[in-house]
Amino acid sequence: MFNLVFTILLVSGIPVNDGKEDAHKFPANFLFGASTSAYQIEGGNEKLYGKGENMWDFSIKKNPFIIANKSNAEISCDSYHKYRNDIELLKYLGVNFYRFSISWSRLLPDGYSNKVNTHAVRYYNDVINLLLMNGIEPMVTLHHKDLPQKLQEIGGWTNPYLAYYYEDYARIVFTYFGDRVKYWITFNEICVGYGGNIEPPFLNQPEHAGYLCRNVILLAHAKAYHLYDQVFRNIQRGQVGYLIEGRWLQSATEQPEDLKAAERARQFFFGLQGNAVFHPDGDFPEVMKRRIAEISKKQGYLRSRLPDLSKEEVTFIQGTYDFLAVNYYSTVLIKDSNTTKDDVGVDKFQNEEWKKSASEWLRVYPDGLRNILRWVKDTFDNPEVFITENGFSDHGELNDTDRVSYLKLHLEALLQAIYEDKIPVKGYSVWSLLDNFEWMAGYTEKFGLFHVNFNDPQRTRTTKLSAKWYKKVIAERTPSVVDYY
Ligand code: NOJ
Repeated sequence: MFNLVFTILLVSGIPVNDGKEDAHKFPANFLFGASTSAYQIEGGNEKLYGKGENMWDFSIKKNPFIIANKSNAEISCDSYHKYRNDIELLKYLGVNFYRFSISWSRLLPDGYSNKVNTHAVRYYNDVINLLLMNGIEPMVTLHHKDLPQKLQEIGGWTNPYLAYYYEDYARIVFTYFGDRVKYWITFNEICVGYGGNIEPPFLNQPEHAGYLCRNVILLAHAKAYHLYDQVFRNIQRGQVGYLIEGRWLQSATEQPEDLKAAERARQFFFGLQGNAVFHPDGDFPEVMKRRIAEISKKQGYLRSRLPDLSKEEVTFIQGTYDFLAVNYYSTVLIKDSNTTKDDVGVDKFQNEEWKKSASEWLRVYPDGLRNILRWVKDTFDNPEVFITENGFSDHGELNDTDRVSYLKLHLEALLQAIYEDKIPVKGYSVWSLLDNFEWMAGYTEKFGLFHVNFNDPQRTRTTKLSAKWYKKVIAERTPSVVDYY
């Protein structure tokens, strides 16, 4: 009987601990990767390559001062030309998979489905084919922040029609590349500039645009998932994952009102993103629906500012995942508050004692990774998980011991999540393969395992200590490695 259960678990791909496994080592079927995104590494913005303008190109052109040091992503790491070189780096590391994204406006210059750019088809085909020739599985994010500008002009992700245009885009991507790509992720961190004003499209309307964006993304994701199911899955046999931005939200004290507020904040953050997909009841979390409806009424609105999902939509979205993708970097502490103006009613801050990075939002708290995984296991029906991003920013040091220490602590927390908390984590990917264009921070915050010289027209890559360390971790399947210098 035991053997039968064990065999079923092995075949299902769920990491197993048969009692013989060493809890310091990742299971034999665990996958290691490295991540990037199109806009942050590609460059290749010259007219001759046919890429259309996206919202970042547009916003930076309009006001170059929005990016630190007035830099831009016109060339960035020049991976458009240097992808062979990047794949060599992936080979050096020994990763099982490479997570990258497709630039929507490179493939469909206007965002719409009538014009496909053949240069883009060639480029992504070359990348995918070369990865596979080197035994590296592509994991492709369909959309990572860089919306075609034409679609932004019609309201971007506040416009429900975007769900249809996204479905068309997904159909074209699956058609061209799906014969070889087995892991898809539909979206990565799209709504930041809708609720906030810290990146394009700078709408700064958390009470309206922030929620609309989440609503439309959920519908678009579900459309792409069903499309894959109905048209492509049988032939292509891949998986489609849904990603949540995973900042762990932890109660600042043991006071009941703060504990309650922290759980409310998690529902407002992870629940808003993922409840409709992963929770057995679907829909937005009850606490959000109730609270926003009450506050909206008091504010004089005739309807709740949280857009309703209809019964049909709830059913359409629920269960549309093959795995959950989590990006985890840091943790925020939560205290109950009745003075904040937002809907969730909490104060947020970080512990000044946690080690800092070069990014003001990123302090080191590895337990947050384990906590978030426990939370999704308990709240979201125990989905299979990939950690699709985890990383540390500095100023580009080659002897990046702080990054090594960050990654080591997080991989240790992940081992505990796998063996002690029994969470089905299938893989882990470091952000990032290369130093790259860190959005509004330009090139001032570096996340790479490999250094890129942005002053050199060749964009020369240099191996950092963390790359040597990660290579050894992958080879030995444990973060407790020595002699990696
Ligand atoms: C998450 C985003 O997906 C990625 O684009 C960004 O560079 C990293 N966080 C670091 O900020």
